[in-house]
Amino acid sequence: MATTPKWIMVGGEGPESYNQNSSYQRALLEAAKEKMSEAIKAKLSLDLIYDRFSVADFGCASGPNTFVAVQNIIDAVEDKYRKETGQNPAENIEFQVLFNDFTTNDFNTLFQSLPAGRRYYSAGVPGSFFERVLPKESFHIGVINYAFHFTSKIPKGITDRDSPSWNRDMHCTGFNKAVKKAYLDQYSADAKILLDARADELVPGGLMLLFGSCLRDGVKMSETSKGIVLDAVGASLNDLAQQGVIEQDKVDSFSTPLYFAEESELKQIIEENGRFTIEAFEDIIHAKGEFTLDPKVLAVSCRASFGTFLSQHFGEQVFTKVFDLIEAKLRQELPRLLNAKPGMQYLIVLRKKN
Ligand SMILES: C[S@@+](CC[C@H](N)C(=O)[O-])C[C@H]1O[C@@H](n2cnc3c(N)ncnc32)[C@H](O)[C@@H]1O
Repeated sequence: MATTPKWIMVGGEGPESYNQNSSYQRALLEAAKEKMSEAIKAKLSLDLIYDRFSVADFGCASGPNTFVAVQNIIDAVEDKYRKETGQNPAENIEFQVLFNDFTTNDFNTLFQSLPAGRRYYSAGVPGSFFERVLPKESFHIGVINYAFHFTSKIPKGITDRDSPSWNRDMHCTGFNKAVKKAYLDQYSADAKILLDARADELVPGGLMLLFGSCLRDGVKMSETSKGIVLDAVGASLNDLAQQGVIEQDKVDSFSTPLYFAEESELKQIIEENGRFTIEAFEDIIHAKGEFTLDPKVLAVSCRASFGTFLSQHFGEQVFTKVFDLIEAKLRQELPRLLNAKPGMQYLIVLRKKN
């Protein structure tokens, strides 16, 4: 079976880049900042804050959100240290930030745009977060923002027309039980591998902060605005197949390595993994609401997030044509988008068991 192409964001800082079209993902970090600081204050032992303190961001992309994520963490750690010791962290603690993403991520843009005046040393950590990428016990707080919904590969049978779990859609809509099971099985296995790798790499008592989106229990992906947008991408691909621009087979064999779990599925996966205690599972009211309902803005941000992945399967030209169609499709879908069931944005705070 062919390997799943890597899902990286559109690089650079141009008008179609992820860097310029990721304010939605950043809004969650902003909305959850206070809760995150409280969790660090309450759950991180002061004993861990001395000499060198390392923060790692997994799936950092090319900025600028990762800079917000790591700065918020450093601010909270410094604040805790200052209040609890009465000492100046700048004199006693050196911070190191480890930026992880696929090797093909645009690390050049990331490092060229590192914030001036930052009080941390930086290093890139290339590689898939579904494996070990750092030495044992090498960081104190890890963060993942909007990247805990990927699978390492397309689940078995999903792209095979003869399989009972063949997926006619390009994502897990939630309506086909066999498809849902195949995605959930793959996601559970991958998430547990990811948690094991991070547990090995974290110091005892270290924290993992997971920010992202999940489904409320019982809600199907295609009933939410994110699912409706994914359906619109799939419908645009089908239109192009009907126009003879691409082969229908190519569309039928296309699926995404994405799975937005239900809240209780996430809890179960973390508990079954057993390496962390769940210290907080917060429902965050996203500053931008569930989604912007401007089809133009939505189409551009889809392009920044899905563009590279789609062009790997269909080629650059098709990818441009798909995105020309999406804006109109989303305009037609506005009534459904307005009535979509709410998704859920979370901050999950995990503490590594000793
Ligand atoms: C939606 S972006 C989020 C980026 C950033 N965390 C933010 O808040 O804007 C998802 C990121 O996860 C990365 N990613 C996906 N799968 C990955 C994997 N297996 N290993 C490392 N990074 C991965 C992608 O390359 C992408 O940069």
